[in-house]
Amino acid sequence: MSIVYLEDKKIFKLDTAGSTYVIAVDDDNFLLHLYYGAPIPDVNLTDFANRCRYASFSATIPSRDGTDFSPDTWPMEIGCNGCADMRIASLQIRNADGNAATDVRYVSHRIIPGKPALPGLPALYSECEGDCETLEIKTLDKTTGAEVTLLYTVFTREAAMTRSVIIRNTSEKPFEIERVMSFCLDMNNADYDLISLYGRHNQERLFERRALAHGVQGISSRRGSSSHSQNPFIALIQKGGNEDWGDAYGFNLVYSSNFTAQCEVDFNRSTRVIMGINPDDFGWTLAPGESFYSPEAVLVYSNAGLGEMSRTFHRLYNHNLVRGEWKHKKRPLLVNNWEGTGMTFDDEKLVQIAAWAKETGLEMFVMDDGWFGRRDDDTSSLGDWYVNETKLRGGISSLIARVKALGLKFGIWYEPEMISPDSDVYRAHPDWCVHVPNRDRSLGRHQCVMDMTRADVRDYLFEQMSSVLANNEIDYLKWDFNRNITEAGSALLPPERQKEFYHRFILGTYELMDRITTAFPHLLMENCSGGGGRYDPGMMYFSPQIWCSDNTDALSRVDIQFGSSLCYPASVQGAHVSASARSGYETKRNVAMWGTFGYELDPAKISEEAREEIKTQIADFHRYYDTIHYGDLYRLISPWDDPYKCAWEFVNEDRSQAIVTYLSKFYTERQNWFLRLKGLDAGAEYRLTKTGEVYSGALLMRAGISMYRYPVADGDSAMLCFEKI
Ligand code: DGJ
Repeated sequence: MSIVYLEDKKIFKLDTAGSTYVIAVDDDNFLLHLYYGAPIPDVNLTDFANRCRYASFSATIPSRDGTDFSPDTWPMEIGCNGCADMRIASLQIRNADGNAATDVRYVSHRIIPGKPALPGLPALYSECEGDCETLEIKTLDKTTGAEVTLLYTVFTREAAMTRSVIIRNTSEKPFEIERVMSFCLDMNNADYDLISLYGRHNQERLFERRALAHGVQGISSRRGSSSHSQNPFIALIQKGGNEDWGDAYGFNLVYSSNFTAQCEVDFNRSTRVIMGINPDDFGWTLAPGESFYSPEAVLVYSNAGLGEMSRTFHRLYNHNLVRGEWKHKKRPLLVNNWEGTGMTFDDEKLVQIAAWAKETGLEMFVMDDGWFGRRDDDTSSLGDWYVNETKLRGGISSLIARVKALGLKFGIWYEPEMISPDSDVYRAHPDWCVHVPNRDRSLGRHQCVMDMTRADVRDYLFEQMSSVLANNEIDYLKWDFNRNITEAGSALLPPERQKEFYHRFILGTYELMDRITTAFPHLLMENCSGGGGRYDPGMMYFSPQIWCSDNTDALSRVDIQFGSSLCYPASVQGAHVSASARSGYETKRNVAMWGTFGYELDPAKISEEAREEIKTQIADFHRYYDTIHYGDLYRLISPWDDPYKCAWEFVNEDRSQAIVTYLSKFYTERQNWFLRLKGLDAGAEYRLTKTGEVYSGALLMRAGISMYRYPVADGDSAMLCFEKI
């Protein structure tokens, strides 16, 4: 049993494969958080609750006036706004009387096998019987009638849990949810560094580490997407902790819109962590009898530093998040025409690229932006999802037939949530665009955003897309999203519900994605948002791969890929070789192999030499696919530790193959240094396939391989494969 309730002590003990989490119900039915960390076998846990936490100016509740109990100083399982807990709140409900004081207490609980789905929301799921168990704790705010259920799913194969919250209105009047975090975690000290992934378009998910300080600190998005600027991921790592050592806690929100992740270090040096929908510009009116589901958060604990934390996320997402036919199926090796042609192409040009792809050994041709409406540049036609027959003479079916005749799969590009002011659909339905009456509609890349909160808009999009998808043999769909949301408002929502806009928008997007993936289960979907602007687990639930960044320059891509690997697996990471200038084709390939792999170029614009080299690149992709996509990742030298070089390694499950990539980012004098591998079988012998040399696993891990003979010039790299003898 991974979840037990110790009735005599009123304690819940939740054990994952590598962590323990403990909650207590106290005499006044407050839920107290007692422990989260490395596994402990004990059941006598009452000591955890014996903390002297009295502080002047921290109000005590009437039943315990004058004692040492205040919700302000004790570790609480849910941080309610406006009563005696003065820290950053995880729950705030404005009741019908207009006040936002909230106070929920334990009522009942149940423990169930598996994991219930969250209606309308992406979420992790149980892959097989016994891989997880769920605890539902029901609490109630007697004054407002808000019934708040806390959900905890505990995974038995990984040191991972998920948490979310359901709010039901059991009263006779509506109330407004102003803040609902997916979890609240009160840690008993502040000896951690906070890690987050910041960035911008072309430079997403860069690693940042800072010491926690007193007060509130954290990250958030208000862009209507999870965003390039901050990824919905944070980690806390013990001071001095690194890749291999220290307590590390990773938190990731399964959500693709406005989010917040905050840590508050209070006057007691305790740290509260919360994560959920960004409460800025959010509110949700809940009528009597209605329920609201928060998105879920994933919590991973590692007692062996960041490396193990990341590997746990990778395995968990490969098994319990990514879904559908393509979950474990080998993804086709593709060529995409975007970087090669932009929107300037016709059917002949596309068939030319496809013919090259076939000859080179690739498996799929993807037609990117520019195939529809009158789309010759980015100023028009989004929303007019019918083929541009001036460009594709004979229509889309004829193009697909020609590509298929070559023996390739075919992929197509869409940006369903967008609308160009210069489009037939906008002229016919100007109110289908996200807008606020009597205000300018700001543009991003000359486009507006479709109002995904509306069922008629979603129906239109489904019909437009399914008429193309149902009548043609299409294998892959790239779903793009190229701007953020402004003037957030819908023509159909009443004034008191406009605050629900952002959340309703993403629920609408999820609904359309669900309809498309259900209607076309064979379709491989790749998400994209100007590269990695929605690189989050919410999107990974619908698409097993996401275009990682529009930056395909291998030397800066590695920083993005290292950052992304903090919690996202290589199997999800869209990565292509392009004609971008700064490195040779070997390095471009070595970097793009850390992902789904493919090419993004016009073969007519690259040299004969480059074309020949590409032909030789593909065999390794097939040979190393399983190890890279489903093996264990070790960040041997990370760009945040060394500005000059980096190295990473994948080891397969039975430790019989290790793929090591070393990249010299900037020239350094040849030095005598050794690269130590990780995760091998110390007692086994490994052959370096390139040279035939044999080393023991012990030597490779403890002494390392001499790097003296490997390249040092700017942008040079080497990929080494070690195979167990
Ligand atoms: C942004 C994407 O990231 C690119 O790969 C490409 O699809 C363009 N959009 C097309 O407009």
